[in-house]
Amino acid sequence: MVHIIGKASFILLSFSIFCTAEGRFAPVVLVPGLAGSVLEARLNRTDTPAWYCSKKSDNWRLLWLSLQEAARPVCLLDELAVFYNATTGRYRNQTGVEIRPVDWGGLGGVEALDPSLPQITPVYESLTGGLKKAGYKERVDLFGAPYDFRLAADGLEQVGFFQNLTQLVEHAVKSNDGQPATIVAHSLGCLVSLSFLAGKSADWLKQHVSSLVAISAPWAGSVTALKGSISGDNFDISVIPHGLLRPVQSTAPSGPWLFPSPDQWGDKVLVQTGKRNYTAKDALQLLKDLELTQQAAVYPIVHNLTYPLPKVDFKIFCMYGMGKDTDEGYVYDVDAFDGSAPDAPKKILKGDGDGTVNARSLEACKRLGDNVTLKTFGNASHTGILADKRLLKEITTIATGSRKSGPWIDIGTLIQQA
Ligand SMILES: *[C@@H]1O[C@H](CO)[C@@H](O)[C@H](O)[C@H]1NC(C)=O
Ligand SMILES: *[C@@H]1O[C@H](CO)[C@@H](O)[C@H](O)[C@H]1NC(C)=O
Ligand SMILES: *[C@@H]1O[C@H](CO)[C@@H](O)[C@H](O)[C@H]1NC(C)=O
Ligand SMILES: *[C@@H]1O[C@H](CO)[C@@H](O)[C@H](O)[C@H]1NC(C)=O
Ligand SMILES: *[C@@H]1O[C@H](CO)[C@@H](O)[C@H](O)[C@H]1NC(C)=O
Ligand SMILES: *[C@@H]1O[C@H](CO)[C@@H](O)[C@H](O)[C@H]1NC(C)=O
Ligand SMILES: *[C@@H]1O[C@H](CO)[C@@H](O)[C@H](O)[C@H]1NC(C)=O
Ligand SMILES: *[C@@H]1O[C@H](CO)[C@@H](O)[C@H](O)[C@H]1NC(C)=O
Repeated sequence: MVHIIGKASFILLSFSIFCTAEGRFAPVVLVPGLAGSVLEARLNRTDTPAWYCSKKSDNWRLLWLSLQEAARPVCLLDELAVFYNATTGRYRNQTGVEIRPVDWGGLGGVEALDPSLPQITPVYESLTGGLKKAGYKERVDLFGAPYDFRLAADGLEQVGFFQNLTQLVEHAVKSNDGQPATIVAHSLGCLVSLSFLAGKSADWLKQHVSSLVAISAPWAGSVTALKGSISGDNFDISVIPHGLLRPVQSTAPSGPWLFPSPDQWGDKVLVQTGKRNYTAKDALQLLKDLELTQQAAVYPIVHNLTYPLPKVDFKIFCMYGMGKDTDEGYVYDVDAFDGSAPDAPKKILKGDGDGTVNARSLEACKRLGDNVTLKTFGNASHTGILADKRLLKEITTIATGSRKSGPWIDIGTLIQQA
C-alpha cells in the first residue's frame, strides 16, 4: 500500500511536467465546510461584553480562527453573533462589527484556519499541497471560495457570495482556455455548492462546471447538528474547544440548515428527555423548547433550502468516509428543555457514518439524480478525509481528466504501468 502511494506521487510529479508543457489544467475551485473558512473583522463598537474586548480596529484583523483570540472567547463569540430580522428576512452582523472572508479567490482563506499555525489548524492544506505538486497554481487554475459559514444559502445570497462565486468560476474558466471547472466542496460547503449550482441554467453549467466533487456531504443533515444547537459541537475540528461554538451555533442559520431532514429520518427518535421525545419532524418544537428564538424563526426557511433534495443535471462525485462511530441520538438527563439544556447528553446512541455525518445522509447523494458516483473510503473521518492520499488521487484524476483538449492521462493507468 505504502509502496503504491510512493510510486503514485513520483508519477504525479512527472505527469505534471508533461501536462503544464502541453497546456493548462482544468481549473479547480475549493469551497470549505462549516467553520472551515478564515474570516477577518473590522471593529467600530460602542458596547462590548467585557472591558478587555477591543472596540476599534483601524485595519481588518484575523477573527476566525485566531487561537490567540479564542483564548478570550467572550469577545470572539460576541463579535461572531449574527442577527435575523423576521420582518425583512435579512441578516446582519453584530452592531459595529464588519466580517469578511480572507483572500477571496486565493488559498489563504481555505488552507488552514489560523494561518500562523497551519499544522494544527489544517483545512484544505494537504489537498492543495498535492494539487500544487501536480502542477496546479494558486489563482491560475486553483482557487479558493471562503465564505461566512454562519449563514445558510439565503444569507449568502444577501452578502453577495453567490455573485462573487459566479464571477470567480467564470474567470477561472475564461482564463484557462474555456475548460469547465471542477468544484470541490467539503461538508456544509456541499450544500452551499448545491444551492449555487441548482440556481444556474443548464447552458451556464455546461460551459462552466464539469463536476461537483462533494466530500463528506451532509445531504440529509446530521444528528450532530442538533447537538450543536442544544449544547455545542466542534464539528470534528479538534482544536476548537467543544463548547466554544455553542453561542454561535445557537444563533447561526447554518446550524438548522444542517438539521436532519424529515424525509430521511422519518419517525426515528433523535433527542430524548424524560417527558418529551423529538424526531426530525419536531425540530421546530425543539428550538422553541430551547428558547432559541432566532433559530426557530429561520428554521422554516433554511430547512427548505436543500430539502427535499433536488434532482440536478450536473455530474456529482460523492466521496466520504465510513465505519466511524457517529451520533444517531441523544438522551438528556432532564424532564424537559425549559429554555436551557445540560452541557452534554447523558447518553449518546451511535451508528455508522464518518464520525460526524450519518451514513444515511452521506448516501443520500444517490437521490440527486442519475449522474452521481459514490465512493466510500473505509476508516476516513469527516475532516480527516481531507488529508487522505486516496482522496487526493481521486480528485487529481477527476480534475485533470476533465481537460477539454490535449492528451489526458488516467493517473490510475499510469500507476498500474509503473
Ligand atoms: C464609528 O461609528 C460611529 C457611530 O457609532 C461613527 O460616527 C463613526 O464615523 C464610525 N467610524 C468609522 C471609522 O467608521
Ligand atoms: C427589522 O427591519 C424593520 C424594517 O427595516 C425595522 O423597522 C425593524 O426595527 C427591524 N427589527 C429589528 C428587531 O431590528
Ligand atoms: C458583515 O460585514 C461585511 C463587511 O462589512 C458585509 O459585507 C456583510 O454583508 C455583513 N454580513 C451581514 C450578514 O450583514
Ligand atoms: C467578494 O469579492 C470581493 C473581491 O472581489 C471581496 O472583497 C469580498 O470580500 C467578497 N465578498 C464575499 C461575500 O465573498
Ligand atoms: C422516548 O423514546 C424512547 C425510545 O424510543 C422510549 O423508550 C420512550 O418511552 C419515549 N418517551 C416518551 C416520553 O415518549
Ligand atoms: C417547507 O417545506 C415543507 C414541506 O417539506 C412545507 O410544508 C412548507 O410549507 C415549506 N415552507 C416554506 C417556507 O416554503
Ligand atoms: C451528466 O453530466 C454531464 C456533465 O455535466 C452532462 O453533460 C450530462 O448531460 C449529464 N447527464 C444526465 C443524464 O444528467
Ligand atoms: C483507522 O484509523 C485510526 C486512526 O484514525 C487507526 O488508529 C486505525 O488503526 C485505523 N484502522 C484501520 C483498520 O485501518
